[in-house]
Amino acid sequence: MAKIIDKPASGDTLDVERIRADFPILTRRVGDKPLVYLDSAATSQKPQQVIDAESDFYAHHNANAHRGIHMLGEEATELFEGARGKVARFLNAPSAESIVFTRGTTESMNLIAHGWGRKFLKAGDEILITEMEHHSNIVPWQLTAQQTGATLRYLPITDDGLLDLSQLESVLTERTKIFSVTGMSNALGTITPLPRLIEAAHAVGAVVAVDGAQLVPHLSVDVQALDLDFIVFSGHKMLGPTASGGLYGRREILDAMDPFIGGGEMILEVFPDYSTWKEVPYKFEGGTMNIAQEIGLGAAIDYLEAIGMDAVRAHEEEINAYALKRIGEAGATIYGPTDPDLRGGAVSFWYKDVHPHDLATIVNEEGVAIRAGHHCAQLVMRRYGVPATARASFYIYNTKDEVDVLISALERAEQVFAL
Ligand SMILES: Cc1ncc(COP(=O)(O)O)c(C=O)c1O
Repeated sequence: MAKIIDKPASGDTLDVERIRADFPILTRRVGDKPLVYLDSAATSQKPQQVIDAESDFYAHHNANAHRGIHMLGEEATELFEGARGKVARFLNAPSAESIVFTRGTTESMNLIAHGWGRKFLKAGDEILITEMEHHSNIVPWQLTAQQTGATLRYLPITDDGLLDLSQLESVLTERTKIFSVTGMSNALGTITPLPRLIEAAHAVGAVVAVDGAQLVPHLSVDVQALDLDFIVFSGHKMLGPTASGGLYGRREILDAMDPFIGGGEMILEVFPDYSTWKEVPYKFEGGTMNIAQEIGLGAAIDYLEAIGMDAVRAHEEEINAYALKRIGEAGATIYGPTDPDLRGGAVSFWYKDVHPHDLATIVNEEGVAIRAGHHCAQLVMRRYGVPATARASFYIYNTKDEVDVLISALERAEQVFAL
């Protein structure tokens, strides 16, 4: 069975100082304090290589892709399709045609819920998601359920922030037509046991869609080894530009689906009362696409591949274990699993009596950027009886020293609110 968490080979370490030198924004200061950016789960920072790839496109190759026969049009098309090839290689997709470009995770999940769900679901069918999902893997399915008459069901989560697998058999049945599940929770950090979930879903004949927004940037994902039907992801969380990203879909499923966005460039022929579609993936890519952004994503993938995803994971495991220990010792309540092997680089917590919004404001004065709020996961917040949490999240450019700065900033917040 394919593993999602392979222990990285020893010796896979990152040269973090060298990496940091590629990120111009990391030299910024917040007032007189160095910036400590611990909000990569919201969006990652971008290396100069990605910034250059995007600006080089506009400076030297800008034209619409798949339109012009002129030189620039051909160059734009070649660069855009080159980026698709890089994404396919990164995910070990069997072909570049199985990669559809979109603005990211939210748009991709809507594409599946509408393009697949509206066509194949009917009353009596069930859609299974989990209590751990980001709103972008809940709301599209609510809309599809309302439109098709299908029923939306949830796999619950445990007190420890894991999916409650003891309930799997009761919610995943032959009525389940699709199981849409996160690969890594943005609110709890939990890495879900995808191989087991995929096998169980396929055993009842369900299609599996994975929200890879937090997974793809941090762990090596092989769509063929995992036997995945769909995985969606956002380029901006993996060093790429905003509005880049897309989805991988199994070719025969993509072929059978309806288009999502109708308009220019996704058609073969248009008649007064109907139209015919281009082949996959172009039937899903209506209108002028996010060309420069996907080219930037290609550069981000080059960057991550040069480092190696095993080294990315090894580094994050180390920072994560250190952060869990230090934040816990500082007296915070941590949500999600305590075992660093079961989590990615996002630590959600509540610190003493300080509301997360107040905490984020005070630590910002110390230069530290963390996120406070419900993290677009209100079901998770309700499950644990909190309105919000503070969240520190890590990536390839973070250091243990930065975790120490966070801890000092937490202590300062406690002093401020003790007054
Ligand atoms: C797990 C998860 N799913 C979906 C999303 C939505 O991603 P985007 O806003 O890039 O579409 C996020 C973003 O925070 C996320 O963390």
